[in-house]
Amino acid sequence: MLVKLLYQKVLKPIFFMFSPETMHSSFVWLGQNIAKTPLILWPLSKIYGIPKSTPEVKFDGLTFKGPVCLAAGFDYNGKLSHCLYSMGFAGEEVGSLTARSCEGNVPPRLTRLINSKSILVYKGLRNDGVDNVIKRLKAKKIPKDFVLGISIAKTNDYLSVELEDGIQDYCYGLEQLVKADLGDFYTINVSCPNVFGGEDFASKDKLNQLLTELKKIKHNKPMYVKLPINKPWEEFSSMLEVVKEHEFNGVVIGNLNKNYEDLSDKDEIPSEYRGGISGRPCQKLSNELIEKTREKYPKDFTIIGCGGVLSPEDAIEKIKLGANLVQLITGMIFNGPHLMREINKEYSKYMKQLEN
Ligand SMILES: Cc1cc2nc3c(=O)[nH]c(=O)nc-3n(C[C@H](O)[C@H](O)[C@H](O)COP(=O)(O)O)c2cc1C
Repeated sequence: MLVKLLYQKVLKPIFFMFSPETMHSSFVWLGQNIAKTPLILWPLSKIYGIPKSTPEVKFDGLTFKGPVCLAAGFDYNGKLSHCLYSMGFAGEEVGSLTARSCEGNVPPRLTRLINSKSILVYKGLRNDGVDNVIKRLKAKKIPKDFVLGISIAKTNDYLSVELEDGIQDYCYGLEQLVKADLGDFYTINVSCPNVFGGEDFASKDKLNQLLTELKKIKHNKPMYVKLPINKPWEEFSSMLEVVKEHEFNGVVIGNLNKNYEDLSDKDEIPSEYRGGISGRPCQKLSNELIEKTREKYPKDFTIIGCGGVLSPEDAIEKIKLGANLVQLITGMIFNGPHLMREINKEYSKYMKQLEN
């Protein structure tokens, strides 16, 4: 309770005085340094870590110590695993990583839309590139119980705009990760709304071509596809069929919302298109798609629920609708690092009720 008040009343007002990118870089710096300091890591995990009584979440041969992971886009260069585990996350998706390193779009790349509990994201897949991140992750000892997912996307530049080049770009990323035997699972991100050339592979036929090539790269790790949330159900459903046909393990539902009309404070609507919006405006779309997907595939198909998890109740709702696990970013920024512990506790209660 005290840590919650401290974040809400003291830290958050200070943090929100700085630009989101400045705060993000500071957090990454702090997180990396905390990881080197067991004296800080230990109390951190006592305050925020996953309670021992939290039921494990198991699917596709993976075991998560709790139901909540960090979504792709926050630890995009793979620097934070230790710190995240101590903050109550059972795993994360590093990335999205691309074949070539990428500076991202022209700033401002992040804008807080405070009243709508959302972030306008115009990062454009800023990352150090798959080879550099592999080197970094290889040099680190990832916590034993922490599940390391890696999100792969297509480099955000003109060299990968043609279909064939785009496919080669994704394949290069996956091949390097497989060669390095790095990561516990891979997610193919075909739904980044703010890159050069657009969401190329978020259609049935192109997704089919992409997954056909990716399937030729042999490994034994679970694979997921991260889908967009703005497609009509018919289209979304046809993409699910492609994912299933290629025997991927499931999907992440889903990415950022492109419809600014879903912002609850209309005064926060940007005057021009500046990328997708996260948080609250993703919640309804993501939940509806999770529910319909679970109806379509009642079993043997993993759904990772992502978008607008701002409270423990939001997380449980996604699980009730059919998600195996939830991911978040925006909830942590708006509500603070205690959110993950609250979700872990609520999940324990929910699972106990199910048993009784
Ligand atoms: C700053 C930021 C960067 C993001 N970058 C990526 C990315 O590189 N790859 C990806 O698959 N999703 C990315 N996303 C989308 C998130 O993974 C997630 O799908 C979305 O934010 C909805 O979850 P949330 O409401 O909990 O934030 C990004 C989101 C944010 C806020």
